[in-house]
Amino acid sequence: MPSNHSTIRRSKRKLRNQLTAPEQTEHATRLRAQIGRLPAFLNSRRIACYLANDGEIDPRFIIATAWNLRKQVYLPVLSPFLSKLYFAPYRSGMAMAKNRYGIDEPTCRPVEWVTAWQLDLMLLPLVAFDDNGNRLGMGGGFYDRTLAYRRARTRSLRPKLIGLAHELQREEQLDTNSWDIPLDMIATEQRIISV
Ligand SMILES: Nc1ncnc2c1ncn2[C@@H]1O[C@H](COP(=O)(O)OP(=O)(O)O)[C@@H](O)[C@H]1O
Ligand SMILES: [Mg+2]
Repeated sequence: MPSNHSTIRRSKRKLRNQLTAPEQTEHATRLRAQIGRLPAFLNSRRIACYLANDGEIDPRFIIATAWNLRKQVYLPVLSPFLSKLYFAPYRSGMAMAKNRYGIDEPTCRPVEWVTAWQLDLMLLPLVAFDDNGNRLGMGGGFYDRTLAYRRARTRSLRPKLIGLAHELQREEQLDTNSWDIPLDMIATEQRIISV
């Protein structure tokens, strides 16, 4: 693993955690405006998202918009046996329970979970990105493992992958590993980057 990844993770996590509550709300509002007019969002029925944690840009207004448009929203759930993510349907006001990382997951039966390739669009959190669609996560490799099936194929496979981030999470160029799955787009409070 490139040795600078841990340095970048530390500095980007610190920067995003230093944003004030009003700044976070402003970024979340601007992000919703960016995503809300994207055909990739408007044309998708099954959309995976996440709940903001550790200073991540907050997609709550995107989730509200998706519900208003009668789309099915999903949240990642950790498989108890594999270090992979499944996606649980998420409805307004649903009962939640914390996973082993202290992050809320919908408490529905595993039979309701879907796999990544059953989704139209996945909105992913990240720690750092570059304009080539490279993504640095928290270091667990969960999204890479979940999306590993894409490595053998082209980028046009479902779901479309859009990384959500504060602009301050941008790096000029990230070193990548063979297992990293690149993003199709990145959306920040300032712009959309199509890879
Ligand atoms: N497809 C995969 N199969 C098995 N292990 C994987 C796979 N993808 C990633 N990993 C493991 O996950 C670990 C973390 O991956 P990394 O890309 O550094 O994290 P992140 O994507 O969260 O920034 C790696 O050390 C790697 O061994
Ligand atoms: Mg990775």
